[in-house]
Amino acid sequence: MKKILIIHGPNLHLLGEREQDIYGKTTLAEINKKLSSVAKPAGVALEFFQSNHEGEMVDVITASKKNGFAAIVMNPAAYTHTSVAIRDAVMAVKTPTIEVHLSNIYAREEFRHKSLIAPVCHGQITGFGVNSYILGLEAAIRLIKK
Ligand code: DQA
Repeated sequence: MKKILIIHGPNLHLLGEREQDIYGKTTLAEINKKLSSVAKPAGVALEFFQSNHEGEMVDVITASKKNGFAAIVMNPAAYTHTSVAIRDAVMAVKTPTIEVHLSNIYAREEFRHKSLIAPVCHGQITGFGVNSYILGLEAAIRLIKK
C-alpha cells in the first residue's frame, strides 16, 4: 500500500484554540481523522507528524524516500515564510510535496505572501480551511496513482 506523509508545522498543535477566527475550531486530531477517512477508501496509508522545530521537519522530509513515502502533504506554518532549510530538504529528496494552508496566505499580512517552499512543491492549496488539507491529500493521491 502506498504511503503519504502528513506534516504539520509549528503551532498547529494548538488548532481549535488558536486564533479561531482565522483557523477555525477544528483540532489537529480532527483534521487527521478527516484525512484518514479520505485515505482509507483510496487504499492509501497515512502517517502524521507535527513539530514546532525546523530541524525535526528537515529530518522527516529528508528521510521520507528511505521510509517509503510516495508523497508529502505539508503545512509548514510560519516556516513557510522563512525556512531555506525546509525548502532545501524538499528539493533534495524530491518526494512530491503539496503545500497546504488553512488561511489564504495572500489575503493576509504582506510577510505571509511569500512562500519559500511553494516553488519547490508540486503545488500549493491555500485558503479553504480544513478543506485545504483534504484537497491537498486528494491531489497527492491522484499524483501517486498516475
Ligand atoms: C498557516 C499560515 C501561516 O502564515 C501561519 O504562520 C500558520 C498557519 C495556515 O495554515 O494558514 O501558522 O500555515
